[in-house]
Amino acid sequence: MRVAVVGATGAVGREMIRILQERDFPADVVVPLASERSAGRAIAFRGRELEVRPLSLEALDGVDIALSSCGGAVARTFVPQAAERGTVCVDNSSAFRMEPWAGLVIPEINPEEVRPDRRVYCVPNCTIITTLMAVAPLHRAAGLRALSVASYQAVSGAGHKGVRELAEQIGKLAGSEEELGHPDPEALPRGEVFGKTIAYNVVAKIDAFDPETGFTFEEIKMAREAKRILALPDLEIAATCVRVPVVTGHSVAVEATFERELAPTEAREILAAAPGVRVMDDPANLVYPSPLEAAGGDDVLVGRIRRHPDRPATLLLFACGDNLRKGAALNAVQIAEAVLRLR
Ligand SMILES: NC(=O)c1ccc[n+]([C@@H]2O[C@H](COP(=O)([O-])OP(=O)(O)OC[C@H]3O[C@@H](n4cnc5c(N)ncnc54)[C@H](OP(=O)(O)O)[C@@H]3O)[C@@H](O)[C@H]2O)c1
Repeated sequence: MRVAVVGATGAVGREMIRILQERDFPADVVVPLASERSAGRAIAFRGRELEVRPLSLEALDGVDIALSSCGGAVARTFVPQAAERGTVCVDNSSAFRMEPWAGLVIPEINPEEVRPDRRVYCVPNCTIITTLMAVAPLHRAAGLRALSVASYQAVSGAGHKGVRELAEQIGKLAGSEEELGHPDPEALPRGEVFGKTIAYNVVAKIDAFDPETGFTFEEIKMAREAKRILALPDLEIAATCVRVPVVTGHSVAVEATFERELAPTEAREILAAAPGVRVMDDPANLVYPSPLEAAGGDDVLVGRIRRHPDRPATLLLFACGDNLRKGAALNAVQIAEAVLRLR
């Protein structure tokens, strides 16, 4: 079993290598690939050093499964050809998520989409993964009709560069916290990744704005991927996606409306039994999720479950998930494990 990790030097790729090791994935050979810039770098895997090679179709020769996290533009240059040549590709970008020939899979939710006739799989958008891990078990019990989501997304969602930009800005602003009550807009640090200052701030724009609707493409992706994953083309759904100065761990405030009323106690029981979900919902003891508690873990944490005061069929909840793990690398490895079970 030869497994390639494309984008092995990136934020998600490094997590994929770690997860392959943690889960004892049955790979005989792991091939780390990245851009020319990283050729020759060493990556530790199972106590050995693996040498990073530049991505090419030849480097994928004989590879059974390629886990890819190198961005959509690069994925488009090799995924279809590699799949044609027999490699099962699991891609983290949005390049193929709406293609009917590619599976868009969260293994706990729609495992039936892993099929023998498919060689390309896509990991859904990291924020919709966190959202649906919390909502899909409730949907199965009570029938989801509408979803409204506000996200609080970590800077590592924009890769290495995002984390660096936040750290640099925190460094520049350290000691000037008092002045941030009356900031001089010209003196605020700004970077290429987030545009507006991300340190001590929130930025209500992830990806570009769609000039027609005013939504960002991140928000549009969330809506259309949710409809596909849940097989609910008529789902009423809208999102507002916001970047926050958190390193790792995406959070979502969700308002979900169901066909039938669902009491918070029943919702907690359903979620407690759902794989990949941990209920943290005990307000009396100040138990509720936060992204730092989700970071580094596999579970999506769900809490603050309450009934809407005016709409009894609507529940409100707050969920946090590690964007690099369940939102990307872990979900990719779980898809690969499901592919192996088909063989
Ligand atoms: N970060 C998240 O939370 C998250 C969540 C879900 C999905 N994703 C998706 O996962 C992908 C990677 O994200 P990331 O956050 O890991 O980004 P990142 O930290 O910037 O890493 C990008 C990786 O892609 C490699 N790469 C860039 N250009 C390449 C090329 N021409 N050929 C081969 N490899 C190339 C880079 O290699 P070098 O080091 O050599 O440049 C690096 O290993 C993106 O599609 C992103 O949308 C990310």
